[in-house]
Amino acid sequence: MYNSGSILHLNSQTILITNFSEQQYEYILLQGQSSGKFDVEINNEKTLYADTSKTFWNILPDSLEVSSSISSVKLNLVYKNIILSRTSSYYDQVHQKQMNQEFIPNKSKVNYAGRVFDADEMTNLVDSSLDFWLTYGKYSKKFEKEFAKKVGVQHCLLVNSGSSANLLAFMALTSPRLGERQVLRGDEVITVAAGFPTTIAPIVQYGAVPVFVDVSLENANIDTNALQGALSSKTKAIMIAHSLGNPFDVQTIKDFCNKNNLWLIEDNCDALGSLYNDTLTGSFGDIATSSFYPPHHITMGEGGAVYTSNDTLNSILMSIRDWGRDCWCPSGRDNTCGKRFSQKFGNLPHGYDHKYIYSHFGYNLKATDMQAAIGCAQLDKLDSFSQKRKDNFEKLYNGIKQFEKFLTLPSATPKSSPSWFGFLLVVKQNDHFSRSELSQYLEKNKIQTRTLFGGNMVKQPLFDDLQLDLDYRISGDLNNTDIIMNDAFWIGVYPGMTNEKINYIISKFAAFFDNYNEL
Ligand SMILES: Cc1ncc(COP(=O)(O)O)c(C=O)c1O
Repeated sequence: MYNSGSILHLNSQTILITNFSEQQYEYILLQGQSSGKFDVEINNEKTLYADTSKTFWNILPDSLEVSSSISSVKLNLVYKNIILSRTSSYYDQVHQKQMNQEFIPNKSKVNYAGRVFDADEMTNLVDSSLDFWLTYGKYSKKFEKEFAKKVGVQHCLLVNSGSSANLLAFMALTSPRLGERQVLRGDEVITVAAGFPTTIAPIVQYGAVPVFVDVSLENANIDTNALQGALSSKTKAIMIAHSLGNPFDVQTIKDFCNKNNLWLIEDNCDALGSLYNDTLTGSFGDIATSSFYPPHHITMGEGGAVYTSNDTLNSILMSIRDWGRDCWCPSGRDNTCGKRFSQKFGNLPHGYDHKYIYSHFGYNLKATDMQAAIGCAQLDKLDSFSQKRKDNFEKLYNGIKQFEKFLTLPSATPKSSPSWFGFLLVVKQNDHFSRSELSQYLEKNKIQTRTLFGGNMVKQPLFDDLQLDLDYRISGDLNNTDIIMNDAFWIGVYPGMTNEKINYIISKFAAFFDNYNEL
């Protein structure tokens, strides 16, 4: 309806200034249809407006005098737009300047990831905070709808983290509503140990049994050759991530799940924007999850999403996200079902308020509308972010390829186009240097490195009190997982990475390998 950068409050009147370069100013009443032109005088200085809009907002006094007679008043919108416009200026003055800071080799830090944003995220955030609705609101609804459309699924639920998303996704499979496909305590879930702890934590926390299989060294994803050996009469699901954005072999996994009647939870936390068979990952699993923690493909600070095209799973997910309730009224609404006081549940008296009927042991995993507000602006940037990740990967690949004698480079899974989360390198066996020495050298040169999260999760202290073959199983060996634990690390390709930084990284690798030219 209006351009937020141009709205001005003059006394108790509400107008939209659309032309700063003349002394006649167009206006539109925010309420009602009127529009027209009028003369403006501020502190007897008509020329004040003959400036750019940004300067104008910076010098605008709190109280203004004007010779016009506009009757409609909608101060909230006017004030909001003044604040939003100034927020936008704040972004330019503070954050943009920071982001544009000159890169100084050996001095500036080359992060592995980080939030990338502009004034849109900040104005959305401030807009939402001024609404002060706080909980699930207009931005949450918008985000869920647009996210689902983007990924190509029917339903999306916003939650407060990727870990919550995984917890929720897994717990949905334990719902009695799923009949014989319900995951029971003691049932098995096939997964991998080379990954992030909260992909597997919900399985253990519930009392189901994770069955770990090895990964392939080319892409650190599940080795599909190991699937058949891991299958037992208790297997109910596969829960795995697309490692560092590189899709797992979706076709083989899906076929295996279909053949054996298994659920697939696709941990898409590191792969939003990746394609398999020209289709976005996150649309293949019965349920998929995302994280919006800052290093991820889009961010809300903290945040996550669970998504599905299965209506039954969606209603279970919603229930468990929202305290386990049976009622699906959105926040601030009552009696959506029209039967609030006329149903019978469990052993409760007939007509017990449906708002307080609980069909699951649930949580409250909801995010705030402020988080969603940031997410809406980030979602608009997803395609450009993905492209940048792909471009950065390509540049790094071309620069580091020359060191293949020492390093195994990542390769995209066949039929995929990854929106890479990171650039994984595996140090080949040699007598001269270790992964640790190379990553410490890079860190010393201000290039951040990361291991592939927990390396081999079953060797982490959190497994100390678990019993093999009771609380968890290992199918086959985890040799490649151990190689990743011992010899792999990754560096960043996030959209904030510039050509200068990438060239700097390549030059530091070159300097390191100079020592080994003779080999
Ligand atoms: C594969 C994977 N799953 C889940 C998570 C958890 O997400 P969050 O940090 O939002 O809880 C992460 C975090 O980076 C992750 O990499």
